[in-house]
Amino acid sequence: MDSTPQGESLPTHVDKHSPYTYLDKGFEILITPTPNTQTNVMKLFLDTAIVSDIEERVSTGLIDGITTNPTLIRKSGRDPWNVYRDIFKLGVKDLSIEVVGESSSTLVKLAMNVYENYGNVATIKLPCTTEGVKACKYLTNIGIRVNMTLVFSVSQAIMCSLAGATYISPFIGRMDDNSLNGLDLIKHIGTIYRSQQIKTQVLAASVRDVQSVAKAFEYGADICTIPPKVFDSMCSHVLTDAGLEKFKEDANF
Ligand code: E4P
Repeated sequence: MDSTPQGESLPTHVDKHSPYTYLDKGFEILITPTPNTQTNVMKLFLDTAIVSDIEERVSTGLIDGITTNPTLIRKSGRDPWNVYRDIFKLGVKDLSIEVVGESSSTLVKLAMNVYENYGNVATIKLPCTTEGVKACKYLTNIGIRVNMTLVFSVSQAIMCSLAGATYISPFIGRMDDNSLNGLDLIKHIGTIYRSQQIKTQVLAASVRDVQSVAKAFEYGADICTIPPKVFDSMCSHVLTDAGLEKFKEDANF
């Protein structure tokens, strides 16, 4: 897609990493802006540590970030740092990397190490515990994005916002697995965050199906992080397939 001539310097306003940037010699510079030029609209993150799965789907231009956790990394069977490096190399702009430790000082130390390697691409994922919240406050004060993970209650969401978290991750699927209502939690947090004009974004996590994505956004989630198979299902509908078959038939395709 990108036919930028080799070695040609781009005007400063051109995002040279955008798959939608088209430059050609002999023409006026033609830039097709990314389709979604709005800001602060719902976003999708991909929830996986399998690099090939990410590569395939990031090329759609519809994914704004990647979330990982130690379990996803373990499932990949790879060294975490190799996974992060490969995701980073894909040009992903927002990569949640989870650090694991007991004390806030350990969490901060590990977070700084991640930040030194990946800078602004890294969002530090911290557990929603007292130590995690303390570490969050410290990191956000020095301008590092934090995603507070394992959020299961409104009170946790309040504490995370007070600590300045960029994102909170309520685990809606795990709540449903335990006979709690994950989407209700999104609704309650969304209501409070809106009424209090909280800047922390609600990142619905542990999402198991397409319907939950729609509901989470309806109830005020800013972002949903979804596994590849849910992402793949988002565009599909049985009636689309049936309709397309008929159109193909009628068009003698
Ligand atoms: C993402 O940030 C979470 O770690 C992930 O969505 C958890 O999903 P799971 O409950 O399916 O393990």
